[in-house]
Amino acid sequence: PPQAPRISVVGTGYLGATHAAAMAEMGFEVIGVDNDPAKAQALSEGRVPFFEPGLPELIRKHVKSGRLRFTTDIAEATAFSDVHFICVGTPQQRGSNAANLSYVEEATMQVVRNLTHDGLIVGKSTVPVGTGMRLRSIVAENVPAGIDAELIWNPEFLREGKAVDDTLTPDRIVVGGTSARSEALMREVYAKPIATGTPVIVCDLPTAELVKVSANAFLATKISFINAIAEVCEAAGADVTVLADALGHDVRIGRQFLNAGLGFGGGCLPKDIRALIYRSSELGATKAASLLQQVDEINMSQRQRVIDMAIEACGGSVLNRRIGVLGAAFKPLTDDVRDSPALNVAAALHLRGAQVVIYDPEANETAQRMFPTLTYAESVEEAATGADALLVLTEWKEFSAAKPEEIRSLVARPVVIDARNCLDAAAWRAAGWWFTGLGASPAPTAVTTATGPLLVNTIGQLVGAH
Ligand code: UDX
Repeated sequence: PPQAPRISVVGTGYLGATHAAAMAEMGFEVIGVDNDPAKAQALSEGRVPFFEPGLPELIRKHVKSGRLRFTTDIAEATAFSDVHFICVGTPQQRGSNAANLSYVEEATMQVVRNLTHDGLIVGKSTVPVGTGMRLRSIVAENVPAGIDAELIWNPEFLREGKAVDDTLTPDRIVVGGTSARSEALMREVYAKPIATGTPVIVCDLPTAELVKVSANAFLATKISFINAIAEVCEAAGADVTVLADALGHDVRIGRQFLNAGLGFGGGCLPKDIRALIYRSSELGATKAASLLQQVDEINMSQRQRVIDMAIEACGGSVLNRRIGVLGAAFKPLTDDVRDSPALNVAAALHLRGAQVVIYDPEANETAQRMFPTLTYAESVEEAATGADALLVLTEWKEFSAAKPEEIRSLVARPVVIDARNCLDAAAWRAAGWWFTGLGASPAPTAVTTATGPLLVNTIGQLVGAH
């Protein structure tokens, strides 16, 4: 039988490392390339330089099976393989909404120049529509004589925290700009998920690029939509969580991504909608640009809202107030703090003179690297001790499982702001907390603390402390 295609994966971050391991799991021989020697070395030893459930095990399994290895040598990787996945980052450009495409261009150029035999280059990075066409001219200009190189797009939809499952059992496979030959090769590479019924969408290059950014833009829009409705709920005395549950039963809407709160962050959603705003404007598609501009603004205003709530809860100023912050990661099950709403809020309160003490089950270290001047605690209890207000900014299970009575005995003032609507409000109120979430009608409870009663106005808003 003809030999199975061999695979290289250029860039071994969340996307590349997971994709390389998944390809090995699907039975292929895979080589991952990274220009960071420390990263390549760590992965070769089965150590993953970030927290992603199940990934270290899968990498160790296939480093051991011999199907997976890592190198810094692009020439070695290119000579070894037939299909070359481009998985490098496309960060937001400094001072602009546009995506920085220099890594994608450089990686493509390196692969093409080092080809020793015919190759298929598969773009996986999230890029502005039109990038693939530009990369095709880089391919045409740099391909060695006598060698045939093709470039197609195959976007990746994996979520951090669920990267391994999302890659092994994707919802759909999108391949754009394929010839008959490259389509057949992609069907061979993804034979396993296709065999279990994963739909394959074969389309042109720009559609494949745009599917990915539209998916992220839609998810972002869903979150900002529910956050906008949360504002109405608060003003009208309605409860956004109950409302979202009710909306979610409509199969056309669905319950996912309707959690109101601090909003979206991370390495993808914020930069991807901004890149789409930029690209849409460039293309003259002004409606998409203005819609997404609102989505971004609503999202960022959630962070300010929580900062204001914390200031209000401390009686108008957080200066010298101790604030316990639960959560630093941009969402649970990751240690990623890129554009993290939680860390953003914590840092803003610190700048206003608060004494911020943060605890995150996984992200303390990455957060500390980004904001070394904040104080980090080793547990919920330590973060809560002596706090004038407790803020829940990432919905880790550990936080919703915390016992409100026990935490209450540790704090200076039993004030909690649940910015992810992940706590049991009734239980916290029953334990004597002044509790507030986002998008719920405030319960008019008066709370007595060791230093006297907190002042609560008639609609239940905290106005200060004696
Ligand atoms: C996202 C896309 O989901 C994924 O398909 C794409 O490939 C990369 O970008 P990820 O960044 O890992 O994945 O995180 P995701 O799970 O989408 O969450 C994004 C943000 O939205 C988080 O900050 C999360 O807290 C927030 N969010 C999510 C909400 O605020 N409310 C919700 O209802 C859901």
